[in-house]
Amino acid sequence: MKRTNGAMRTQVGIVGAGPAGLLLSHLLALRGIDSVVVESRSRAYCEARQRAGVLEDGSVRLLRESGLSGRLDREGLKHGGIYLQFDGERHHLDFRALTGGRTVTVYAQTEIVKDLIAQRLADGGVVHFDVSDTVIDQLTSDRPVLRYTDAGGNKHEITCDVIAGCDGFHGVCRLSIPAGLSTVREREYPYSWLGILADVPPSTDELIYAHHRSGFALHSLRSLAVSRLYLQVDPDEAIDDWPDQRIWDELGCRFDLPGSGWELKQGPVLDKGITPMRSFVSAPMRYGRLFLAGDAAHIVPPTGAKGLNLAMADVDVLAPALEALLKGDERLADSYSAACLGRVWRATHFSWWMTTMLHQTPGADAMEAELQLSQLRYVVSSRAAATSLAENYTGYPARPAATG
Ligand code: FAD
Ligand code: DHB
Repeated sequence: MKRTNGAMRTQVGIVGAGPAGLLLSHLLALRGIDSVVVESRSRAYCEARQRAGVLEDGSVRLLRESGLSGRLDREGLKHGGIYLQFDGERHHLDFRALTGGRTVTVYAQTEIVKDLIAQRLADGGVVHFDVSDTVIDQLTSDRPVLRYTDAGGNKHEITCDVIAGCDGFHGVCRLSIPAGLSTVREREYPYSWLGILADVPPSTDELIYAHHRSGFALHSLRSLAVSRLYLQVDPDEAIDDWPDQRIWDELGCRFDLPGSGWELKQGPVLDKGITPMRSFVSAPMRYGRLFLAGDAAHIVPPTGAKGLNLAMADVDVLAPALEALLKGDERLADSYSAACLGRVWRATHFSWWMTTMLHQTPGADAMEAELQLSQLRYVVSSRAAATSLAENYTGYPARPAATG
């Protein structure tokens, strides 16, 4: 950030220090482009917010190619498949065999955010935490401005060449696009996820997605010592009505495999929360000199772990587009939105498909129950159907390998 006669100046003003904003700032720095990130929460809050945990191999390669994979390569856990459980049976889908060797990596979003913040600060990057009153303005000029109040109550205005709206679903950037200039497609689901982080080794070698008459359950993990588990609950459930033992009992019931000897290990609950489920796409992802990336432009229900991967894929496209734009070539910036939306809609469909196949819809009739079971049986018995799931889960389209 430069100061000219008291006015602040940067090339790219970035709103939001989630994975999208922080990674974009890093990718721009690698191209010699100056940015300032403003974030309404504290650094500690951003680093502790429990969210996603599964990275597509393309996301891992993006982090590796941009020099961010030191800890990820040491601590990330490679997974070559998942289990689908329904009707009292657990079936393994072998992604490596189905996709010619592709895998996913379990590495928590909290760790990616910690790695990104540490790298930005070590490289002299500017990230202002605890800001308030973020406003973006003059978006159709070639000098858009970013205003905010810092943690000490001082007001600032930064003149930028471009603004990146990486401020998540509840941010201000998307709302700065005039009504009528964007199209929104949205679906709310009649259930939520109750998620826990538990200080207990995972009871499984691969993630288990379980369809059960009491509702969906997912067994994931964060490390060989810490488990992450989710339960489908009604959208109006309050977390206070779910003491830890009630959660473990319900998880035990939904993952139960009678006669198999398998058991769900229980342990202290470190964190718990309820997340609503929604599909949402706002297009186009650009307005003048404002570019939206990640949850600011699109949300998927978490089943299938696409949200974080989409955020990273957006900024992988945005960084070179902004580099070209700042050199006077607008072609990549003009195609940014369309380039991202193809992947976004594929992930939106996949997440919707996984969600509706695996959850219990309140009030659903026997017809819907049979259709879900038929689909699940098809996925675990047809190589073509299993390959479709595996190809989407590991990331479609696959990110091309780096050249040179
Ligand atoms: P975010 O991570 O939301 O980052 C946006 C940042 O902008 C935040 O730090 C926010 O504080 C900041 N901000 C907002 N408004 C302003 C403002 N006015 N001024 C300055 N800063 C602002 N995905 C999965 O794949 N699997 C999961 O299990 C999963 N669980 C989730 C649970 C929850 C509760 C939520 C909300 C999301 C979950 N997701 C999950 C989705 C995934 O975490 C997101 O897709 C991912 O965080 C997107 O990254 P982002 O950088 O676009 O947005
Ligand atoms: C996780 C979340 C998901 O939504 C998913 O499909 C798989 C794993 C997780 O948080 O680990």
